[in-house]
Amino acid sequence: MENLSGRKIMDVLNGKKFEKPPVWLMRQAGRYLPEYREIRKQAGSFLEVCYNPELAIEVSIQPIRRFGFDASILFSDILVVPDALGREVRFVEGEGPRLEPIDAVEIAKLVEAYDRDAALAHLKPVLETVSGLRGELPKQTTLLGFCGAPWTVATYMIAGRGTPDQAPARLFSYSNPDAFARLLELLSDISADYLISQLKAGADAVQIFDSWAGVLGEKDFERWCIAPVKRLVDRVRKELPDAKIIGFPKGAGEFYSTYRQKTDVDALGLDWTVSNSLGRSLQKEGAVQGNLDPMKIIAGGKALDSGIDDILEAFGNGPHIFNLGHGITPQAPISHVEQLVKRIRG
Ligand code: CP3
Repeated sequence: MENLSGRKIMDVLNGKKFEKPPVWLMRQAGRYLPEYREIRKQAGSFLEVCYNPELAIEVSIQPIRRFGFDASILFSDILVVPDALGREVRFVEGEGPRLEPIDAVEIAKLVEAYDRDAALAHLKPVLETVSGLRGELPKQTTLLGFCGAPWTVATYMIAGRGTPDQAPARLFSYSNPDAFARLLELLSDISADYLISQLKAGADAVQIFDSWAGVLGEKDFERWCIAPVKRLVDRVRKELPDAKIIGFPKGAGEFYSTYRQKTDVDALGLDWTVSNSLGRSLQKEGAVQGNLDPMKIIAGGKALDSGIDDILEAFGNGPHIFNLGHGITPQAPISHVEQLVKRIRG
């Protein structure tokens, strides 16, 4: 297959297929790498790495240096957006993110006080990371920017932390639908402007992480997941008509197809519960990315090899980016990641 752009992932996003698919891993820069843990120790806190372009560039490149992945993803977090809106975010060691839970009154104030330029100014170091990274990455490496989907970011803003099934945000959306809609619109707009800025700073494509898409029923999925992402995508494409966008509505199951049709993303990130038959039918409509269970990286051996082979066989006839079905975990052995790359590249 001819390689048009020199960046395989960009070719897949344009509908090309490769005998050996390009590969990157969600959360590929992180705690399973000793060189990441070293930088984290120096920096102090996780957010300090996110807001320090020099350190963020270094940790973004670490997995490229080690494994030669086809994409580098900007090192940051989806929660820098609420942080930029003035809803201060902290990360508690071993526990995860903490925010002051937001209510309807605070949402009204947030919308009222919204200052787009101030929010983007807060995110400027992240944009510096993007432009610096593009300068340092190998030519053939795709640079991915990202943001969280409005629904997923809102779940953390409402609960103030991660919860197993996002019950606080679901409850809030039923009890305060108007306030919730306003919050999602605000997140859509700032996230669109943030992605536009990342693309202008040198990102080749962007991914929208909707890690909590799978906890919504049908109508709520339309309203809280699809509609805000569509608003976001439309706003990006209005300014940058050729922008390439990967959507990752984790756990969307039977709603994956309508998600692609209605949001118009270029590729769908599949989680590991998506069957080969559903995956293949989604692939007829456009590129797919995924979908190895991250636990198979920890297991290694035969579980890893046969998991990889199964995915290569399922998606080998269409545009496919090899990835996990969710982020790699701190327990992943480096030798198993090497095994994965070797198996895919053959
Ligand atoms: O993929 C990459 O390598 C780029 C960096 C990246 C991070 N977070 C770094 C990170 C990306 C793309 C994310 C996305 C993200 N962040 C999501 C969506 C994807 C997903 O995993 O569901 C979500 C929900 C978040 C919010 C978040 N950030 C949580 C819930 C946590 C705590 C859980 C955990 O793994 O510790 C984080 C922390 C975080 N984000 C770390 C990293 C490397 C670990 C922090 C540390 O180094 O101490």
